[in-house]
Amino acid sequence: MKKMQITQASVPEGVIDLGVGQPQVDLLPLAKMNLAWEHQLKQGNPEILQYGMQQGDARLRKELSGFLGQAYNAEVDPEALQMTGGVSQALDLICTLLTRPGDTIIVEEPSYFLALRIFRDHHLNIVGTPMDENGLIIPALEERVKQYNPKLVYTIPVYHNPTGITLSAERREALVRLSVKYGFLIVADEVYQLLAYTDTPPLPMVFSDAAEQVISLGSFSKIMAPGLRLGWMHAHKKLLEPFFMCGLFDSGGGPNPFNAGIVSSAIELGLLKEILLHLKTTYRKRRDVLSRVLHEHLPWLKFTLPHGGFFIWAELEDGMDAEKLLEMAARHDVGFQPGIRFSSMNGLNTFLRLCFAFYGDDDLEEGVARLSCAIEK
Ligand SMILES: Cc1ncc(COP(=O)(O)O)c(C=O)c1O
Repeated sequence: MKKMQITQASVPEGVIDLGVGQPQVDLLPLAKMNLAWEHQLKQGNPEILQYGMQQGDARLRKELSGFLGQAYNAEVDPEALQMTGGVSQALDLICTLLTRPGDTIIVEEPSYFLALRIFRDHHLNIVGTPMDENGLIIPALEERVKQYNPKLVYTIPVYHNPTGITLSAERREALVRLSVKYGFLIVADEVYQLLAYTDTPPLPMVFSDAAEQVISLGSFSKIMAPGLRLGWMHAHKKLLEPFFMCGLFDSGGGPNPFNAGIVSSAIELGLLKEILLHLKTTYRKRRDVLSRVLHEHLPWLKFTLPHGGFFIWAELEDGMDAEKLLEMAARHDVGFQPGIRFSSMNGLNTFLRLCFAFYGDDDLEEGVARLSCAIEK
């Protein structure tokens, strides 16, 4: 019988697809979630089965603000959090409530390819702006802002997907200054903020001097489990008002109150801390394995070791085309994401994105060995 597909990624048996940007199933914290569930069940609280508060479960926001406050070493007000069904839903809702078809959104080149899909669903005019090793290049951004008068600038300022780059502190300030000068809103997708391995990243962008210009987005997908479909917006209360009152949350209640109850117990019991520590230790090791085997098998491949997140972004030699390589790689039972998928301008075809979250050390080694054979061919 054919295997039923129940998760987003379907990788044929025997294939190592380094393009899959998800946690390995073995890393999903089933046993710990069971403890959290038992704890929640013991409270005898049927309200987790009721329509939830529009802003999101108040206990969860309180627990989360305590957790984030500790992680950031800065105060987080539970009233400055709007729970969401993950960053994806937050992006969709931001487009629904704050844009009209035809409005311009400026995105980094490259950017998270599925965010680009959401912006396309809303018929936004997507304009790419270049990055270097310190993130968004500010003069290039300003040129585009003057030309296109964007409603939103979408940035992944920390452990960027796909490049792994963190926007430098100076450029963060410059970006915020531009947003005040030209009146656009910064949507900061900080989904990897808490997955830091070898440095301490700057605080989320909502802590900038002009907090009314920024919505910071976080998610339990990368620090606990994507199947929870829970995340948060962190912003000045004035910015969150349209979300508190929007039709989606008015009709449906806040996102996923049932899961919110379980996650709130997981934080209260200290389980989220343990899960996150385990993930960080594991991913850091895997990042190092992937980097080592890339150096061994493909010493000419250009990449910078990321300090956090899920990905290594590597550049092929001049004249090589990642999409063509992908066809050859498929014949060697290995996959990756070609750079062009992250481009809003049909470019970046000498780049590839490799993920170190979905496979263990042996598969990472084997995957790169296969990739190297495919490249030789
Ligand atoms: C940059 C970025 N934003 C958002 C998401 C999706 O987040 P969520 O699961 O919270 O919708 C991902 C997942 O890969 C991502 O890499």
